[in-house]
Amino acid sequence: MARPSDRPVGSLQIAPSILSADFADLAGAIRAVATQTDRLHIDVMDGHFVPNLTVGPPVVASIRRVSDAFFDCHLMLSDPGEYLEAFAAAGADGCTVHVEVGDTGRLIDTARSLGLSVGLACNPDTPFEAVSPWLEVVDLVLCMTVFPGFGGQSFLSAVLEKVTEVRAAATERGLALDVQVDGGIDVETAPLAVAAGANVLVAGSAIFNAPSPLAAAAALREAAGPR
Ligand code: DX5
Ligand code: ZN
Repeated sequence: MARPSDRPVGSLQIAPSILSADFADLAGAIRAVATQTDRLHIDVMDGHFVPNLTVGPPVVASIRRVSDAFFDCHLMLSDPGEYLEAFAAAGADGCTVHVEVGDTGRLIDTARSLGLSVGLACNPDTPFEAVSPWLEVVDLVLCMTVFPGFGGQSFLSAVLEKVTEVRAAATERGLALDVQVDGGIDVETAPLAVAAGANVLVAGSAIFNAPSPLAAAAALREAAGPR
């Protein structure tokens, strides 16, 4: 739909997660939802930070050739610092690292120096206080609404309270911050997340497991309502 920079911070964005797409036809899956994609969410897993393996920079480089969407790489890696440069070189627009891995200040600085948009993610059981000190220096906070690792899990509504805390803190501090939710987002949960303060909605199974992924992404946008 558009490269990132022309999306105002805080506006509603639909982020299809390719984790649930057909990996044998990633190009086709990405193109099919292009007109409803504000950013493409790419889940990177190392089998260590999370018990699953997915894709790395070579796949990002390949899909970069077939899509001009904003590439939002969610790095579920124990050592993301090792790979930021490779993701930037492969064509990532933004990289999100998890606060649980530590070394947050250095990771943010490194990502920034590579010209990346920077996100900070937190697991469902990580408190607001862990991300609070970093709100001024990131572009996005990702509140995981499932424990990361797999698509198709149920939305954890208890996380909504933290989404509200992040949005309230950003507003109070006068920050232009994107607040992303990821996990179990569908037409039922999207409005709850938006009401709590989220503006970037990641959805994998709700989009790519639907008979028409494009219609499913449009339905998600519709259900989320204006923000
Ligand atoms: C889970 C990933 C998600 C995943 C969401 O660890 O970070 O991005 O694709 O999948 P759904 O939308 O199916 O919950
Ligand atoms: Zn993700």
